[in-house]
Amino acid sequence: MASDRQQFRWGIVGTGFIARKFALGLTAVRADATVAAVCSRSESSARAFCEPLGVPRRFTSYDEFVADDGIDAIYVATPGDTHFALARAALEAGRPVLVEKPFCLNAREAEALATVARSRAVFCMEAMWTRFLPLVRELRARVRGGEIGTPRYFSGTFALAEAQDADNHLLDPARGGGAILDRAVYPVSLASALLGSPDGVDAQVSEMADGRDAQAAVTLTYANGCIGQLFASMQTSMPNRFTIAGTQGVIDVRPPIYRPFEMSISPVAAGTRSRRPIGRRDFIKESGFVHRVFQRISALTGARHARTVRAYYQGNGYVHQALEVMRCVRSSQTESELMPLEESVSIMRTLDEIRTQAHVRADAPRRVAAISGAGN
Ligand SMILES: NC(=O)c1ccc[n+]([C@@H]2O[C@H](COP(=O)([O-])OP(=O)(O)OC[C@H]3O[C@@H](n4cnc5c(N)ncnc54)[C@H](OP(=O)(O)O)[C@@H]3O)[C@@H](O)[C@H]2O)c1
Repeated sequence: MASDRQQFRWGIVGTGFIARKFALGLTAVRADATVAAVCSRSESSARAFCEPLGVPRRFTSYDEFVADDGIDAIYVATPGDTHFALARAALEAGRPVLVEKPFCLNAREAEALATVARSRAVFCMEAMWTRFLPLVRELRARVRGGEIGTPRYFSGTFALAEAQDADNHLLDPARGGGAILDRAVYPVSLASALLGSPDGVDAQVSEMADGRDAQAAVTLTYANGCIGQLFASMQTSMPNRFTIAGTQGVIDVRPPIYRPFEMSISPVAAGTRSRRPIGRRDFIKESGFVHRVFQRISALTGARHARTVRAYYQGNGYVHQALEVMRCVRSSQTESELMPLEESVSIMRTLDEIRTQAHVRADAPRRVAAISGAGN
C-alpha cells in the first residue's frame, strides 16, 4: 500500500455487532485506513467501543458527527429502520456513505436515498459486502465471460437460526429484519449480480405466530428462461451454498454464501442415448461390477471433472467493501460500478414483491402454516 497516501478516515455510526466486525476488519489495511470517529446514542457505548480499538474521537450528536471534516466517509451500522434517515443526513452534509444491508426498508426509501445522493453528487453505496469478495468478483467475471455458457439456473440459501428474542431487531421486518430483509437479501443480491433483475417473483413465506416472517422460499424467473430458487430462514441453520448452472458448465460455491473463497467448476456434457442393438459392451458397462468400481473411485477422487478455483479474502472479509468505497471516493466517483444505486433499488423492489406476496397470500390455502410458538 502506498505510504505517501493519507490514511482514509472512517466514521462509524452504531457500536453493535457489525460495527465491531467492520472496525476490526479494517485493521487488515491499517496503513491505508483507520476508524477516526464513532457516533453512538450513548457516551458509555461509544467509550466501550472506542477504547479497545484506539478510536480517537467519539460523538453522541449525529449532526456534529456528519459535519466533522476529519471524516472521509461514514459507515451506517445501525438497524435497518434507521438507515434512510442516517444516510440521508450524511449525504446532505456532503459526507460519502456506506449503508448496511438491507439498504433501506423498501424501494420507495431506496429511490429517495439514491435521489439525494445523485442530486448532491455524493458517494453512496449499499454495504452488501459479499459481492466485493475476490471469489465473487472472479465468479462474476467467469459467468459474464461465458465460461458456463448461457446461465439457466441459480440457487442460493441463507438459513441461519437467530436468537428468538422479542427485542431482536434482526427478526423484526418493521426494523429492517426478518427472513426476507435480513436473510433473503443475500441470495437476491447474488442473483442480481449474476443474472440481473428478475422478471417474475413467486414467494412462499412462513410466519411466526405474531406475523414476523420466519422463512421464505422464492422462485425468480427471467425473460430469457433462466430460473432462480432461493431459500432464507431465521429458524434453522444450513450449509448455505449457492450454485449457478449454464448450458456449458456448473459452478458450485463452497459455503457459506455470505463469505465464500472457493468454487468448483464442472463442464456440462450433453447426454447421449444409444440407439444401437444391445451388445456385449452394454452388458459389461451396465453390470454391477462396473458401477461398484465407479462408485468406489468417485468416492476417493471426489467430483469428476470439477476444477477448484480459490480466491482468498483479506482480513475478515468486510474490508473489501471498504476498499471499494475508498477507491471510489479517492477518485471522486459518486457510485460504485460493482454495487450501483439503481441495483440496490432493484433489489429492494424484489424484496418488496416477496413481502407483498407474503401479505397477499396471508389466508390463501397454499400458504405454509404459521409456526406457532416460535419467536414469541
Ligand atoms: N453484513 C453483515 O454481515 C451483517 C451482519 C449483521 C448485521 N448486519 C446489518 O447491520 C445492521 C446492524 O446490525 P447489528 O447486528 O450490528 O445490530 P446491533 O448489534 O444491534 O447494533 C446496532 C447498533 O446500532 C445502534 N442503534 C440501535 N438502535 C438505534 C437507533 N434506533 N438509532 C440509531 N442507532 C441505533 C446501537 O449503537 P449505539 O447504542 O451505540 O447507538 C447498536 O449497537 C443491520 O442493518 C443488520 O442487518 C449486517
